[in-house]
Amino acid sequence: MPPFGVVRRGCAMRWAGLLPRMRFGQRRNFVFREDLAAKVAEYAAMKPNPVSLHSWLGEFAEPVQLAEFLCTEMPIRYAERIRNIESIPAWQDIKELVDVHTIQLNAFQAFAEQSRTQWQDVQHFKPVVEEVQAADRMTKLLLMQAAQKLRRQRGTDSFMDEFSLELNKFLDVFLLSRLGCNMLMGQYLACTGASPLKGIVNPQCDAFEVCRKAADEVKRRCEISQGRVPIVHVEAFTMAGQGVTKAPRFSYIPGILMHIVRELLKNSCQRSLELAESASELHEMPIHVVVCADKRHVVIRITDRARGIPRQIGSKIWSYLYSGSPTAISGLSFGYGIGLPLSRLHARYLGGSLDLVSLPGYGVDAYLSLPRVEADLVEQVPDIEQDATQINLLTL
Ligand SMILES: Nc1ncnc2c1ncn2[C@@H]1O[C@H](COP(=O)(O)OP(=O)(O)O)[C@@H](O)[C@H]1O
Ligand SMILES: [Mg+2]
Repeated sequence: MPPFGVVRRGCAMRWAGLLPRMRFGQRRNFVFREDLAAKVAEYAAMKPNPVSLHSWLGEFAEPVQLAEFLCTEMPIRYAERIRNIESIPAWQDIKELVDVHTIQLNAFQAFAEQSRTQWQDVQHFKPVVEEVQAADRMTKLLLMQAAQKLRRQRGTDSFMDEFSLELNKFLDVFLLSRLGCNMLMGQYLACTGASPLKGIVNPQCDAFEVCRKAADEVKRRCEISQGRVPIVHVEAFTMAGQGVTKAPRFSYIPGILMHIVRELLKNSCQRSLELAESASELHEMPIHVVVCADKRHVVIRITDRARGIPRQIGSKIWSYLYSGSPTAISGLSFGYGIGLPLSRLHARYLGGSLDLVSLPGYGVDAYLSLPRVEADLVEQVPDIEQDATQINLLTL
């Protein structure tokens, strides 16, 4: 049995060659492994093709065209991530990295081995995509566990030494590439689903509405987990004036915007709740969300009064390796301290940015800037084999 469900009938033999513990004859395994490694190398040498928002709304809102693209593009991106893992010294000794490698290989094969008749058939291809997505769910957690093991092995307790910075870069590159794959798969599943919106992009995405929903959701979480709710004001402005009707609309993936705003609000609410000892103190620490825009950008500022980021934490907030609240008591923290680096990755994915300014003793201003012009909204996909994104853990 293959360890994950993505390999279709008839592939179990090939799979046996990938498993860390071999089950079939040595010679046959060797042949299969070499074949596959060569295929991975071949795809990894190709350049990934970033998709523009224009295409998401056009040809890639059409399932068969998107399926064809996925079967050539996904193997390139998965192959790069496979090689990315293999660039870590002694990666086979870390169970979590072996698991992540296996997940990538399964997905690579699932896409690379589709025949034309298979990808053209939605009934066949959709379950393949669903299974790849389901198998990928543990990847983030496995990577974080692997990263902690690597740091322990290295014996470093700093987050800013060269090894940790390289490891952080590895995670950034890997997770950005993975985010792109997940978005493309999400697009396929959405445009083969029942929703009238053909895909995950909303050409009329209402940034104010998304922020309002995120605020409601986070406030609900606060109520459930702590029985207290901070005040959150959401306002919208454009060059045309203030008010809900003036709220900026633009072509965007609302799920990405929701993810980022929710993480930022969770942090602001969590910190405000930690500091406020009474309801009146909490009322004196309102959180403000301002949504504004000109023709080229939508900018969202989230301001809190929770005294800023403690000095000893500083720029560690952007590290996947640092967790500010390891106990995750409040239900507001993911618990791995990766809310901010992951949110910044989500912002960058379509050409945006996320910055934080900490005002010591006062609070935090988070600035999220997203391109509004469709031509600027293009996937950022790391070309791991070609760019300076090669990770040099080996040399450290
Ligand atoms: N608005 C904020 N005010 C004060 N500290 C913050 C704020 N946002 C983030 N931080 C600090 O940065 C750390 C990392 O945040 P994050 O990446 O979201 O991970 P997590 O919330 O899981 O700890 C937090 O634990 C907290 O110490
Ligand atoms: Mg957080």
